[in-house]
Amino acid sequence: MQGSHIRFLVGDPSMSAPKSILDIQTVIPFHDGRAIPQLGLGVWQTPPDQTADVVREAIRLGYRSVDTARLYRNEEGVGEAIEKHPDIFVTTKLWNDEQGYDRALRAYEKSTRLLKRPVLDLFLIHWPMPEQGQYVETWKALVELKKSGRVKSIGVSNFEPEHLERIMDATGEIPVVNQIELHPDFQQRKLQDFHEKHNIRTEAWRPLGKGRVLTDERIVRIAQKHDKTPAQVVIRWHLQEGLIVIPKSANPKRLAENLDVFDFALDADDLQVIDGMDRADGRMGADPRTAKF
Ligand SMILES: NC(=O)c1ccc[n+]([C@@H]2O[C@H](COP(=O)([O-])OP(=O)(O)OC[C@H]3O[C@@H](n4cnc5c(N)ncnc54)[C@H](OP(=O)(O)O)[C@@H]3O)[C@@H](O)[C@H]2O)c1
Repeated sequence: MQGSHIRFLVGDPSMSAPKSILDIQTVIPFHDGRAIPQLGLGVWQTPPDQTADVVREAIRLGYRSVDTARLYRNEEGVGEAIEKHPDIFVTTKLWNDEQGYDRALRAYEKSTRLLKRPVLDLFLIHWPMPEQGQYVETWKALVELKKSGRVKSIGVSNFEPEHLERIMDATGEIPVVNQIELHPDFQQRKLQDFHEKHNIRTEAWRPLGKGRVLTDERIVRIAQKHDKTPAQVVIRWHLQEGLIVIPKSANPKRLAENLDVFDFALDADDLQVIDGMDRADGRMGADPRTAKF
């Protein structure tokens, strides 16, 4: 079954799935034989001096996956919190000034030291930065890290089809995941189709639209119908879409709220309404083709 396009339509007799089909243990399989917990925690803008406490609380609540990056300056805090939890899946990303073959290998060394993990679960190129012209060489370094067993899985973030095609053509190695901006008002259907064709999983960053979609009256109405919060409806939508999803919160109450999404299911009407929220101009972050950082 394709992980990126599994749709759980509760209420549709031909496709109905019990609510229990999605739970906190649900994983999305990668083409390399590994798998990632479907729901994880993002820590962008979690202050470095609070990160260890936030991640410890998340693990206590039941989170099994953490998404960090060199850019976030909090890998050390994540490392502190996961040190005694070898079962926690950790993703990190090399930053734009770490692109290039040798620099990427050094970035890996630094991340693994900060995260206190001899082997990383998932290592990503954060942005393609096509104007720098180094993402193919960077990808070759990640392929080498995987071959030598220093990283379990390798992937990318913010890659468009032409960037994906170039790294796959150059190395024959398909990224397991492309982590992209994706929320109800920016659904990236074309890119998702490209991923599905190549067996690349889609991971949604900014899944809550940084809060923007939570006040949309369509989401609020669905939330009222299910007696859940808008954030829970949006996270549940990502899960039923078969996406990997990493909402960020540094607040213990919202950390728990964002995990409490396994006792209800969106029905076909709800999914149709949320599908209709997609907008061509819904992007909030940078455009990967022109980004300048
Ligand atoms: N690859 C990339 O280029 C890239 C780019 C951006 C993000 N990411 C990853 O994706 C993760 C998530 O994206 P994001 O942090 O940009 O945005 P997000 O998860 O869509 O939204 C996070 C914001 O929503 C708030 N929030 C969280 N839960 C809430 C709830 N239940 N009710 C109301 N507000 C809530 C958070 O505040 P509180 O903390 O106060 O709860 C925070 O301000 C990041 O942390 C990072 O790991 C990757």
